[in-house]
Amino acid sequence: MKMVLASKNPKKLEEMAVILSQMGIEVVLESDVGVDVEVEETGTTFEENAALKAFAVMEAAGLPAIADDSGLCVDALGGGPGVYSARYGGEGLTDADRYRLVLEGLQGQLDRGAKFVSAICCAFPGGDRVEARGECPGVIGYAPQGENGFGYDPIFFLPEKKKTFAQLTGEEKNAISHRGKALEKFKEELEKYLTAEGGNQKKSC
Ligand code: IMP
Repeated sequence: MKMVLASKNPKKLEEMAVILSQMGIEVVLESDVGVDVEVEETGTTFEENAALKAFAVMEAAGLPAIADDSGLCVDALGGGPGVYSARYGGEGLTDADRYRLVLEGLQGQLDRGAKFVSAICCAFPGGDRVEARGECPGVIGYAPQGENGFGYDPIFFLPEKKKTFAQLTGEEKNAISHRGKALEKFKEELEKYLTAEGGNQKKSC
Protein backbone atom coordinates (compact mmCIF):
# COMPACT_ATOMS: atom_id res chain seq x y z
CA MET A 1 0.00 0.00 0.00
CA LYS A 2 1.18 3.49 -0.87
CA MET A 3 0.79 6.11 1.85
CA VAL A 4 1.65 9.80 1.93
CA LEU A 5 3.42 10.98 5.05
CA ALA A 6 1.77 14.21 6.09
CA SER A 7 4.74 15.92 7.73
CA LYS A 8 7.45 18.37 6.85
CA ASN A 9 9.61 17.60 9.90
CA PRO A 10 12.52 15.64 8.35
CA LYS A 11 13.47 13.93 11.65
CA LYS A 12 9.90 12.81 12.26
CA LEU A 13 9.64 11.63 8.65
CA GLU A 14 12.78 9.57 9.10
CA GLU A 15 11.49 7.90 12.28
CA MET A 16 8.09 7.15 10.77
CA ALA A 17 9.39 6.03 7.37
CA VAL A 18 11.70 3.43 8.97
CA ILE A 19 8.81 1.79 10.87
CA LEU A 20 6.19 2.12 8.10
CA SER A 21 8.51 0.56 5.51
CA GLN A 22 9.01 -2.39 7.88
CA MET A 23 5.22 -2.82 7.69
CA GLY A 24 5.48 -3.17 3.90
CA ILE A 25 4.00 0.27 3.36
CA GLU A 26 5.43 2.27 0.48
CA VAL A 27 6.01 5.63 2.05
CA VAL A 28 5.90 8.69 -0.18
CA LEU A 29 6.44 12.26 0.84
CA GLU A 30 4.06 15.11 0.11
CA SER A 31 6.66 16.51 -2.30
CA ASP A 32 6.79 13.15 -4.18
CA VAL A 33 3.12 13.52 -5.11
CA GLY A 34 3.25 17.25 -5.82
CA VAL A 35 1.40 18.23 -2.67
CA ASP A 36 2.34 21.00 -0.26
CA VAL A 37 -0.40 21.52 2.30
CA GLU A 38 -0.16 23.97 5.21
CA VAL A 39 -2.53 22.79 7.92
CA GLU A 40 -3.46 25.02 10.83
CA GLU A 41 -3.33 22.90 13.96
CA THR A 42 -6.47 24.28 15.57
CA GLY A 43 -7.37 21.14 17.54
CA THR A 44 -7.17 20.97 21.32
CA THR A 45 -6.04 17.34 21.36
CA PHE A 46 -3.25 15.45 19.61
CA GLU A 47 -5.91 13.25 17.99
CA GLU A 48 -7.78 16.22 16.50
CA ASN A 49 -4.62 17.72 15.05
CA ALA A 50 -3.42 14.40 13.59
CA ALA A 51 -6.80 14.00 11.85
CA LEU A 52 -6.72 17.58 10.52
CA LYS A 53 -3.31 16.95 8.93
CA ALA A 54 -4.09 13.46 7.58
CA PHE A 55 -7.41 14.45 6.00
CA ALA A 56 -6.02 17.62 4.42
CA VAL A 57 -3.16 15.73 2.76
CA MET A 58 -5.37 12.77 1.76
CA GLU A 59 -7.80 15.15 0.06
CA ALA A 60 -5.01 17.00 -1.74
CA ALA A 61 -3.16 13.85 -2.84
CA GLY A 62 -6.09 11.47 -3.43
CA LEU A 63 -4.09 8.78 -1.61
CA PRO A 64 -4.13 7.41 1.97
CA ALA A 65 -2.26 9.88 4.16
CA ILE A 66 -0.76 9.33 7.59
CA ALA A 67 -0.01 12.05 10.13
CA ASP A 68 1.42 12.11 13.61
CA ASP A 69 0.68 14.85 16.08
CA SER A 70 2.90 14.68 19.07
CA GLY A 71 4.29 16.63 21.96
CA LEU A 72 5.73 16.77 25.42
CA CYS A 73 3.39 16.90 28.44
CA VAL A 74 5.06 18.03 31.66
CA ASP A 75 3.19 17.34 34.91
CA ALA A 76 4.37 20.47 36.75
CA LEU A 77 3.46 22.62 33.73
CA GLY A 78 -0.16 21.44 33.84
CA GLY A 79 0.45 19.04 30.92
CA GLY A 80 2.13 21.72 28.81
CA PRO A 81 3.51 22.44 26.34
CA GLY A 82 1.29 19.57 25.07
CA VAL A 83 -0.33 20.33 21.71
CA TYR A 84 1.63 23.59 21.66
CA SER A 85 5.03 21.83 21.81
CA ALA A 86 6.07 22.89 18.30
CA ARG A 87 5.07 26.52 18.98
CA TYR A 88 6.04 26.82 22.67
CA GLY A 89 7.35 30.32 23.41
CA GLY A 90 6.18 31.68 20.05
CA GLU A 91 7.41 31.77 16.50
CA GLY A 92 11.06 31.89 15.47
CA LEU A 93 12.55 29.96 18.40
CA THR A 94 14.96 27.07 17.96
CA ASP A 95 14.44 23.65 19.53
CA ALA A 96 17.08 24.61 22.11
CA ASP A 97 15.24 27.86 22.95
CA ARG A 98 12.08 25.86 23.56
CA TYR A 99 13.61 23.19 25.77
CA ARG A 100 15.40 25.90 27.75
CA LEU A 101 11.98 27.45 28.41
CA VAL A 102 10.80 24.13 29.83
CA LEU A 103 13.90 23.91 32.02
CA GLU A 104 13.30 27.48 33.23
CA GLY A 105 9.66 26.69 33.97
CA LEU A 106 10.80 23.83 36.18
CA GLN A 107 13.45 25.73 38.13
CA GLY A 108 13.22 24.74 41.79
CA GLN A 109 10.59 22.15 40.93
CA LEU A 110 11.12 18.65 42.31
CA ASP A 111 8.27 17.09 40.33
CA ARG A 112 10.01 16.37 37.01
CA GLY A 113 7.46 13.87 35.67
CA ALA A 114 6.60 14.10 31.98
CA LYS A 115 5.52 12.05 29.01
CA PHE A 116 5.73 12.23 25.25
CA VAL A 117 2.48 11.54 23.41
CA SER A 118 1.96 10.63 19.76
CA ALA A 119 -1.41 10.40 18.04
CA ILE A 120 -1.43 8.86 14.59
CA CYS A 121 -4.21 9.15 12.08
CA CYS A 122 -4.36 7.59 8.65
CA ALA A 123 -7.09 9.00 6.42
CA PHE A 124 -8.35 7.04 3.41
CA PRO A 125 -9.99 8.44 0.28
CA GLY A 126 -13.67 7.96 1.00
CA GLY A 127 -13.34 9.17 4.56
CA ASP A 128 -12.34 6.12 6.63
CA ARG A 129 -9.66 6.54 9.24
CA VAL A 130 -7.38 4.34 11.34
CA GLU A 131 -6.02 5.86 14.53
CA ALA A 132 -3.57 4.93 17.27
CA ARG A 133 -1.92 6.58 20.28
CA GLY A 134 1.37 5.94 22.04
CA GLU A 135 2.90 7.40 25.18
CA CYS A 136 6.38 7.28 26.65
CA PRO A 137 6.86 8.28 30.30
CA GLY A 138 10.07 9.91 31.54
CA VAL A 139 11.39 12.82 33.55
CA ILE A 140 12.73 16.23 32.64
CA GLY A 141 16.45 16.47 33.36
CA TYR A 142 18.26 19.48 34.82
CA ALA A 143 20.43 20.17 31.77
CA PRO A 144 20.42 19.04 28.11
CA GLN A 145 22.36 15.89 27.27
CA GLY A 146 23.00 14.20 23.91
CA GLU A 147 23.10 15.24 20.28
CA ASN A 148 20.69 12.86 18.53
CA GLY A 149 17.01 13.25 17.73
CA PHE A 150 15.20 16.57 17.72
CA GLY A 151 12.90 18.85 19.70
CA TYR A 152 12.87 18.20 23.42
CA ASP A 153 14.95 14.99 23.19
CA PRO A 154 18.01 16.40 25.05
CA ILE A 155 15.99 17.12 28.23
CA PHE A 156 13.79 14.00 28.21
CA PHE A 157 15.49 11.55 30.58
CA LEU A 158 14.62 7.87 30.78
CA PRO A 159 15.50 6.65 34.29
CA GLU A 160 15.58 2.96 33.22
CA LYS A 161 18.10 3.72 30.45
CA LYS A 162 19.96 6.41 32.40
CA LYS A 163 19.99 8.38 29.15
CA THR A 164 18.00 11.09 27.45
CA PHE A 165 16.22 10.44 24.14
CA ALA A 166 19.02 12.45 22.52
CA GLN A 167 21.59 9.92 23.80
CA LEU A 168 19.84 6.99 22.12
CA THR A 169 20.36 5.79 18.56
CA GLY A 170 17.39 6.13 16.21
CA GLU A 171 16.73 2.40 16.54
CA GLU A 172 16.85 2.51 20.36
CA LYS A 173 14.50 5.48 20.43
CA ASN A 174 12.00 3.90 18.02
CA ALA A 175 11.87 0.78 20.20
CA ILE A 176 10.51 2.69 23.22
CA SER A 177 9.28 6.04 21.99
CA HIS A 178 5.71 7.37 21.95
CA ARG A 179 5.85 7.38 18.13
CA GLY A 180 7.28 3.85 17.97
CA LYS A 181 4.51 2.60 20.27
CA ALA A 182 1.80 4.47 18.38
CA LEU A 183 3.07 3.00 15.09
CA GLU A 184 3.10 -0.53 16.54
CA LYS A 185 -0.52 -0.05 17.64
CA PHE A 186 -1.29 1.52 14.28
CA LYS A 187 0.06 -1.57 12.53
CA GLU A 188 -2.38 -3.78 14.47
CA GLU A 189 -5.30 -1.44 13.77
CA LEU A 190 -4.43 -1.16 10.09
CA GLU A 191 -4.27 -4.95 9.75
CA LYS A 192 -7.72 -5.23 11.38
CA TYR A 193 -9.06 -2.49 9.12
CA LEU A 194 -7.71 -4.06 5.95
CA THR A 195 -9.03 -7.51 6.78
CA ALA A 196 -12.44 -6.28 7.98
CA GLU A 197 -15.27 -7.18 5.64
CA GLY A 198 -15.71 -4.29 3.26
CA GLY A 199 -13.03 -2.43 5.22
CA ASN A 200 -15.22 0.61 5.32
CA GLN A 201 -16.03 1.26 8.92
CA LYS A 202 -14.32 3.80 11.14
CA LYS A 203 -11.69 2.18 13.33
CA SER A 204 -9.98 3.77 16.26
CA CYS A 205 -8.32 2.75 19.48
P1 IMP B 1 3.89 18.46 15.53
O1 IMP B 1 4.76 18.35 14.33
O2 IMP B 1 2.86 19.52 15.46
O3 IMP B 1 3.33 17.12 15.93
O4 IMP B 1 4.84 18.96 16.70
C1 IMP B 1 5.47 18.08 17.51
C2 IMP B 1 6.46 18.85 18.39
O5 IMP B 1 6.55 18.13 19.61
C3 IMP B 1 7.85 18.85 17.78
O6 IMP B 1 8.12 20.03 17.09
C4 IMP B 1 8.73 18.71 19.00
O7 IMP B 1 8.94 19.96 19.57
C5 IMP B 1 7.88 17.89 19.95
N1 IMP B 1 8.14 16.45 19.79
C6 IMP B 1 7.30 15.52 19.28
N2 IMP B 1 7.90 14.30 19.26
C7 IMP B 1 9.13 14.51 19.74
C8 IMP B 1 10.22 13.62 19.92
O8 IMP B 1 10.20 12.42 19.62
N3 IMP B 1 11.31 14.20 20.46
C9 IMP B 1 11.40 15.50 20.80
N4 IMP B 1 10.43 16.36 20.62
C10 IMP B 1 9.28 15.87 20.08
